[in-house]
Amino acid sequence: MKDYTFDDYRKYFEEHMLDFLPEIDHKSITLYDSMKYSLSAGGKRIRPVLLLAACEFCGGTMEEAIPYACALEYIHTYSLIHDDLPCMDNDDLRRGIPTNHKVYGDAVATLAGDGLQSAAFEAMHKDMLMYFDDPAALNRRVRACYEISKGSGCRGIVAGQIADMEAEDKNCSRELLDYIHITKTAALIIAAVRAGAQLGGADSETLEALTIYAENLGLAFQIRDDILDVTGEESTLGKKTGADAQNSKATYPAVVGLDESNARLTELTQTAIDALRDYYDNAELFVELAKVLEIRGN
Ligand code: IPE
Ligand code: IPE
Ligand code: MG
Ligand code: MG
Ligand code: MG
Repeated sequence: MKDYTFDDYRKYFEEHMLDFLPEIDHKSITLYDSMKYSLSAGGKRIRPVLLLAACEFCGGTMEEAIPYACALEYIHTYSLIHDDLPCMDNDDLRRGIPTNHKVYGDAVATLAGDGLQSAAFEAMHKDMLMYFDDPAALNRRVRACYEISKGSGCRGIVAGQIADMEAEDKNCSRELLDYIHITKTAALIIAAVRAGAQLGGADSETLEALTIYAENLGLAFQIRDDILDVTGEESTLGKKTGADAQNSKATYPAVVGLDESNARLTELTQTAIDALRDYYDNAELFVELAKVLEIRGN
């Protein structure tokens, strides 16, 4: 693996982030503006960085992976825009600025999310179209696109979001809580790592190790998100705190308490790191990222 840091990947990603948006007719410029508004607002970019890093870890390059990294961030950003809508979590602040619907209204925000999701699939398919004469390269790309489709769809984010909504104001079992967190959040993090690995041509052993890493990191990530809603600072987080309790959400602190939430977070982080034990010399970025995300403040 090359010696690139998280920031190197993030910078490369952000330089190209808007390159894969489809050209939108001037008559629909509000759509473009609203999509760009949420994309350019910032965010940690952990999913695209994971994808680019996983691709290089497995022998590929970030240049070939960039359309898929952009697709992933488009999907993630769409999921945040829809998550914030009044009919869902009803949030006013995201990535440190007013939520999309607060600026553009509910209808445009809904369409911005739709536009970002379809832009993601257009970007990936446009890239695949260039590889019809290279079956091995095409194969890697189709596999990556499949991972991203799976993580974002009816077994991933969408399934998690409906279960999350239906669990409001109810007693939630640990089993249901993990189902919600794994589908609404871990699935796209798993997709990031697996899509990158597929693009890089990972062997089955490496793909398996990276998958275990991502499963544990993904659940840990949502537990930390839940904890920050209780203990975090709005100015650092860039989103309102206390929103989960207000919406009677099924969260880790609500179901098992803060102490057990923190213990589970530590345990999952360690399991994620241990999954890459055999690759330590090369897997520093993944190991460091897991440690940073465990104690992140935003
Ligand atoms: C927020 O994701 C939604 C969750 C899945 C917890 P991030 O915390 O990655 O949000 P950004 O991209 O940094 O804004
Ligand atoms: C959102 O979970 C997961 C998504 C799929 C968007 P949350 O509702 O907890 O995310 P935040 O706290 O609003 O970022
Ligand atoms: Mg939500
Ligand atoms: Mg929310
Ligand atoms: Mg949250």
